[in-house]
Amino acid sequence: MASMVNQQAEQVVAPLAPSPSLADVTSGYGRGVPDAIFAHPRLAPVYDTFDGPRNDLAAYLGIAGELGAHRVLDVGCGTGCLAILLAGTGRTVVAVDPAAASLEVARAKDGAGAVTWIQGDAGRMPSVGADLAVMTGNVAQVFLTEQDWAQVLWAIGAALRPGGYLVFETRRPERRAWEEWVADTGPVTLEVPGTGLVEQCREVTAVALPFVSFRYTYTFLADGAVITSESTLRFRGREELESSLAAGGYRVLDVREAPDRPGREFVFITERAA
Ligand SMILES: C[S@@+](CC[C@H](N)C(=O)[O-])C[C@H]1O[C@@H](n2cnc3c(N)ncnc32)[C@H](O)[C@@H]1O
Repeated sequence: MASMVNQQAEQVVAPLAPSPSLADVTSGYGRGVPDAIFAHPRLAPVYDTFDGPRNDLAAYLGIAGELGAHRVLDVGCGTGCLAILLAGTGRTVVAVDPAAASLEVARAKDGAGAVTWIQGDAGRMPSVGADLAVMTGNVAQVFLTEQDWAQVLWAIGAALRPGGYLVFETRRPERRAWEEWVADTGPVTLEVPGTGLVEQCREVTAVALPFVSFRYTYTFLADGAVITSESTLRFRGREELESSLAAGGYRVLDVREAPDRPGREFVFITERAA
C-alpha cells in the first residue's frame, strides 16, 4: 500500500482541471472513494457516536466570526456536524462530501434543511464564491499524493472569492499520534441510537511515514454483523504544508493550536491570494 502511494506521490503534477459549475459537481463527479467508515450504509450512522462530543467545532464557529465569513464551504463535511452549526448562525453553507451514506446521515439531522448538500470530491469544488472554506476532522490528511493535495488546494481556491479564506486542521507528525493508536486498540462498545450496541476495534496496519494505515472493525451485537474499514492518512509537516499552500496561491495568516487538542494539531488560517 505505502509503496504504491509513494509511486503516485512521485508523479509529476498534471495540469489542473478547470473549475466545474455547481451543476457539474451535483451531477455525480467523484474521484475519491471514501473509506467504508464514511461510505458504508451501516458504518456512517455509527460515526457520530464513536466520534464523541464535538468540542472541536466551537473554535471553527469562532474563526468564521473572526473572519466575517457569511458564505461557507464545508469540504469533506461527513455527517454534517459543523455545516449544520454554521447554518444555524444564519450563514449560507454549502457542504461537500463524496460519501453518500454520510450525507444521508447529515440530511436527516435537525437543521439540515438550511444547508446545501453536495455529493462530490474536494478535487472539484462548485464555484460558490465562498468567503471561507473549512476542512475539519483532519480531512486534509485523506489526500495522499502531492498531486491530489495540489488539486484540492486549487479547486478550493477556485471556489473561494478573491481574498477568501481556507481554514483546516491536520495532525502534527512530530506528535506521532499513531503510537497512541498502536497502544490503544480498544475494544470500545457503545449504544448507537436506533442500532443498538456496537463494538469498535482499531488496529494500526502500517506505518510508512508520511503514511499511516489502520483498520477499524465494527461488530453489531444485535445481529453479529462484522464490518471493517481500512484507512490511510498522510501526516504533513509544517514546512511541507506552508510550501504547498504558497504554491497553491495561499498566504498563511496564522497557524494555531486546536483549543481542545493542544499540541496535537496545526490549525492553518490562510487567505487566497486576490
Ligand atoms: C474524519 S471525516 C471528517 C468529517 C467532518 N469534516 C467532521 O469534522 O466531522 C473525513 C471526511 O473526509 C471525507 N473525504 C474523503 N475523501 C474525500 C474527498 N476526496 N473529497 C472530499 N471529502 C473526502 C470523508 O468522506 C469523510 O466524511
